[in-house]
Amino acid sequence: MILDLSEHIRIDLDALKSNFRALQSRVAPKGVLAVVKWNAYGHGLIECSKTLDREGCAGFGVSSPDEGIQLRKSGISKPILVMTDWVGKPIKHFLEYDLACAATSWYKVEYLESVSRQLGKPIATHLKFDTGLGRVGIHHTRAEETLKNIARMKHLQIEAIYSHLAYSGPKDRDKGLMQIEIFTRIIELANSLGIQPKYTHLANSAAAVALPEVPGNLVRTGIALYGQPPSRDVASLLPLEPVMTLHGKVISVRPLKKGQGYPTPHFFRAPYDGFGAEINLGFSTGYPRSIVNQASVLLNGKSCPLVGVMSKNSSYLFSRTRPDLDSEVVFWGKQNGRTLYLYELAPLIGALPYELTTWLTQRKPSRTFSE
Ligand SMILES: Cc1ncc(COP(=O)(O)O)c(C=O)c1O
Repeated sequence: MILDLSEHIRIDLDALKSNFRALQSRVAPKGVLAVVKWNAYGHGLIECSKTLDREGCAGFGVSSPDEGIQLRKSGISKPILVMTDWVGKPIKHFLEYDLACAATSWYKVEYLESVSRQLGKPIATHLKFDTGLGRVGIHHTRAEETLKNIARMKHLQIEAIYSHLAYSGPKDRDKGLMQIEIFTRIIELANSLGIQPKYTHLANSAAAVALPEVPGNLVRTGIALYGQPPSRDVASLLPLEPVMTLHGKVISVRPLKKGQGYPTPHFFRAPYDGFGAEINLGFSTGYPRSIVNQASVLLNGKSCPLVGVMSKNSSYLFSRTRPDLDSEVVFWGKQNGRTLYLYELAPLIGALPYELTTWLTQRKPSRTFSE
């Protein structure tokens, strides 16, 4: 099923299904906790989550209680973990909508213990340790003291223990193995203190695909589900199909002689006789203007350079052959059997593949004429 999120964003839910199936069979018997935070990385929270739910994912990771509530209201009953900060949010929503909290610091652990006592019902808690990434979580050197204190608590419900890897592909193998060792020790320690979480999870997409040793009974995968390998070296290990295609269309064509400037002489000169084409997609979509003159787009399944300049609502390509008016131009995603992946584009401007889809604005399809 194809979904038009906006005039320029096409979502292929069948591709989402096939990526899920590929990933699930790669990690089985582990379950897939589908990371649908940030509006499913810009792919549409509800439709993507419902599709993954039907396919049999184990649960969902969201970025806010609000996203979790939206999922519950759409009828999803599987576990939902609010992965990012929730401090200051009405905590009763976690109970009301059966959302799990990420406890990433001792402050939050104590807070959840006290709130669970006051409310007379425990809030499901995923306890996060920093095993080497250095970003969020209780530092692993404090694991023993933390777990001993938790073992004495009466109200907290540790549903999971987890950590996040500094791992984006096989080149990070040694770092990954080191974190695995630390994580395994933490789980053993917890078990020895009588803390037996229902879930343990460590793997992101890259590790789920490329690091079979990764422990845990869940993997937390985002970008691979959306059909985007997190890096080039992961791409060859598991075929993934982009779920999102960002596209525009040719709205004017100009024949160019070798050396002729396009769209004005200031920005680009034709390296040989060819054609310049204006496309109805500009930076108001969230596509990064700074990538022009570095990136290519797909036209009739062939790669053409994006040239000159980008304005709010248009951009320009150069082609050896004459483009037809109204032809589709793909900025990333699929066209005629060719694929343009985010890991090919993002490094051109020092970005991560994750950033590009989440930058997009999602204006509804515009209508040129009033009806
Ligand atoms: C804690 C955590 N786990 C898992 C993920 C999913 O990572 P990926 O999209 O690489 O699978 C993220 C993504 O930001 C994350 O922050």
